[in-house]
Amino acid sequence: MNTNEEEKKKNVVRVEASRKLRQLPPYLFGAIDVLKRDAYRKKLDVIDLGMGNPDLPTPKHIVERLCDTVLNHPNTHRYPQAKGMPKFRKTVADWYQKRYAVDLNPENEVMSLVGSKEGIAHMCMAYLDPGDTVLVTNPCYPVHRDGVILAGGVPYDMPINEDNNFIPKLEDVPTDVANRAKLMFLNYPNNPTAAVLEDTAFFEKVIEFARDHNIIVCHDFAYSDITYDGHRSPSFLEVPGAKDVGVEFHSLSKTYNMAGWRVGFVGGGSEFLKPLEKLKSYLDYGVFTAIQLSAIKALTGPQDCVAESVKEYRKRQIKLVEGLNKIGWEAKLPKATMYLWIRLPENFRDMPSLEFAELLIEETGIAVAPGIGFGAYGEGYVRVAVVTNFQRFHDALLRLREFIRKGPP
Ligand SMILES: Cc1ncc(COP(=O)(O)O)c(C=O)c1O
Repeated sequence: MNTNEEEKKKNVVRVEASRKLRQLPPYLFGAIDVLKRDAYRKKLDVIDLGMGNPDLPTPKHIVERLCDTVLNHPNTHRYPQAKGMPKFRKTVADWYQKRYAVDLNPENEVMSLVGSKEGIAHMCMAYLDPGDTVLVTNPCYPVHRDGVILAGGVPYDMPINEDNNFIPKLEDVPTDVANRAKLMFLNYPNNPTAAVLEDTAFFEKVIEFARDHNIIVCHDFAYSDITYDGHRSPSFLEVPGAKDVGVEFHSLSKTYNMAGWRVGFVGGGSEFLKPLEKLKSYLDYGVFTAIQLSAIKALTGPQDCVAESVKEYRKRQIKLVEGLNKIGWEAKLPKATMYLWIRLPENFRDMPSLEFAELLIEETGIAVAPGIGFGAYGEGYVRVAVVTNFQRFHDALLRLREFIRKGPP
């Protein structure tokens, strides 16, 4: 370092980020991005199956609604109504009624969100004081756990694995933990495991458990529509009594390929939404009105676009699962989501999943998400997202065959 640089460094203020933030490792997909960037730098032909970021375009009628609104309705350029415009909230309430026969009052039982990830993180901030306990599944979608930590809370792991069909055993939660827990996060269809609930039996138990222990249930329903072969995933809110104990978070990101638009919603008991609304009123202004209007178009317009996306994901999953099984890497078709949750190939099972994912991208250019990124109980697995063009899977399988044949270094 030359003296000039040293001098400059001396003048830089040094303040550490909060303990809460430092406690968290770099965000999983940020870490995968670094690996991808390295691979691009080395001029590898990257096949990105890492992040659950839909590659299919947002349907045209939704995009057109946005363009028309932005261009022709300048009044939409102003600050939006933070909890969502009345028409948006009414559309969500109607959607719940039509799809799940659930009654929601658009006035106080529905809110728009800047994506469900935002809503989940803010729900934690709205409810948690330092040291408060939250029940989370392990593995889980990262914000269910990290949102708790960032709010100063303490996640309590409910392991989900093949032995319990990826459904937590509520009876295994010690009574003292259950009694002090404030929130519980659940998510079916599940990310990362792609597990589903066939019926409402588990939710019925959850409602009883929540009542017994005074816990707010937060169900994340982001993959409600990415389901296959006639599987129907139940909404938490369709179960009698659900509104008395919790809320359901939803997203337009996956159903309508609107991940970048940042729009979702939450529905459920008004008591539980009040603190969230209050917190958000201090922090954000809600969703851009033109995007809310486009989301209304998505929810009320033609739905064949959803069926087309689902068909495309399934085609890719079938190609990949059949191909993987042929090359000796055991994989199963899930009933929902655009993911495969796969145990590491047999000859790699001594390797940590992160090391496996690193080696895989270095040697083949294929990016997957290591199971450990979703929690300690995700170790031994990788999550593969079928979010790249169908044509790429043939190539991916050829590279994987060679990689598995060669085995660990
Ligand atoms: C289970 C789950 N919930 C929420 C989200 C985030 O959705 P949004 O784009 O609405 O923030 C994701 C995104 O991958 C997810 O997998």
